[in-house]
Amino acid sequence: MEKLLIRGGSQLSGKITCSGAKNAALPMIASTILSDEKVTLRNLPYLQDITTMFELLGSMGSDIILDENMNFTISSKDLKDTEARYELVKTMRASILVLGPLVAKYGKAKIALPGGCAIGSRPVNYHLDSLEKMGAKIKLKNGYIEASSKRLKGAEIKFDGITVTGTENIMMAAALAEGKTTLTNVAKEPEIIDLANMLNSMGAKIDGAGSDRIKIEGVDNLTGTNFEIPADRIEAGTYLAAAAVTKGDITIEGINPNRLMKVIDKLKDAGAEIEYQNNAISICMNKDVPNPVDITTAPFPEFPTDMQAQFSVINAISNGTANIYETVFENRFMHILELNRMGCDISVNGNHAIIKGVKSLSGAEVMATDLRASASLILAGLCAKGETIVDRIYHIDRGYERIEEKLNYLGANIVRLPS
Ligand code: EPU
Repeated sequence: MEKLLIRGGSQLSGKITCSGAKNAALPMIASTILSDEKVTLRNLPYLQDITTMFELLGSMGSDIILDENMNFTISSKDLKDTEARYELVKTMRASILVLGPLVAKYGKAKIALPGGCAIGSRPVNYHLDSLEKMGAKIKLKNGYIEASSKRLKGAEIKFDGITVTGTENIMMAAALAEGKTTLTNVAKEPEIIDLANMLNSMGAKIDGAGSDRIKIEGVDNLTGTNFEIPADRIEAGTYLAAAAVTKGDITIEGINPNRLMKVIDKLKDAGAEIEYQNNAISICMNKDVPNPVDITTAPFPEFPTDMQAQFSVINAISNGTANIYETVFENRFMHILELNRMGCDISVNGNHAIIKGVKSLSGAEVMATDLRASASLILAGLCAKGETIVDRIYHIDRGYERIEEKLNYLGANIVRLPS
């Protein structure tokens, strides 16, 4: 397995461009199932999860063409298969995103039931309950979700809990359902707005994405489109955090700061100077040691759970004690044990981490357990004394495009070690 060797101590400086957002791209690729026409997606990030989603669509019969400008054109007309097999689903839970489009377009789907993962049990009951409300019959058999339906019918659906991919799945299904669907208690993440914009560009009638209530007037068919994947707010936030722990001075281009306001506020509380324009964010960390910042993760617009691990590192080298409450996933502190092996002083009690700042971290061999945990270990390696080796970096390749290249461009010293 490949590893990253990080020699700590560099101050990051310079300018990089944000890549396309993984969590916007995945539902967009799934949504191509809804159309008989070609859909072109621009600015797709080169990531393992994107490749897995293409593999899934390819296994069902989609045609996927990459052109010389790195744009993907996907044609999902007349799929020969509507099954997402366990081999693919077990490597990427977001495979569940094909469920809504398949039932809406083909009246059936067989999707391996995603199991738990490193960050929590992550059930998909809200997705299934909502499809049932729209008239689908759902059976769970031999580890698979088997869904079938005549044309789905619009419904009034109130989600029992806020779910990002659940909101996306049902929004896609409702786009082709008969009649009106109203979704309440929905996720308001920017990726929901992006997906609604893309579906509307294909002729869907979706209103209210980004608010508490989304109204969808079902249409008979959707056209093709040519759509650009917006920049990845979590990638941008991760590089901002990397600058904060290395006394760095960097600019990230291509990112809309409105998508990161809670993260920007917390970085300011930590002592960083931040400036932003429409499409770029600059951070300058003049303070030698960050201030501790308390964090409670929650759905957008609150502080994102996907930035919690990175802020654990800022707090770990702060001049005080910080409290982090993780309210979205029940087991998202796996990075803490590894961070403590690098000299951090963090204790965990249920969903509460108490982080006491220490004077310095020391390099160690550590193991990545999930995508954002891997990012936190790299950040810790950047500010630690000596060498850090991060193992199992396939997790990071799922969600960060060329991370060591981008960080080295900013002055870091990271080498990818072959397996
Ligand atoms: N939940 C249920 N039942 C459901 C659905 C969700 O109980 O049917 C619970 C989950 O177990 C969790 C909470 O609701 O405790 C929120 O889960 P959500 O469904 O919102 O998460 P997701 O849609 O599976 C997406 C992102 C995650 C991100 C979360 C929260 C994608 C592909 N994934 O996951 O991204 O952490 O929303 O913002 O969009 C990552 O990129 O590293 C990542 C994990």
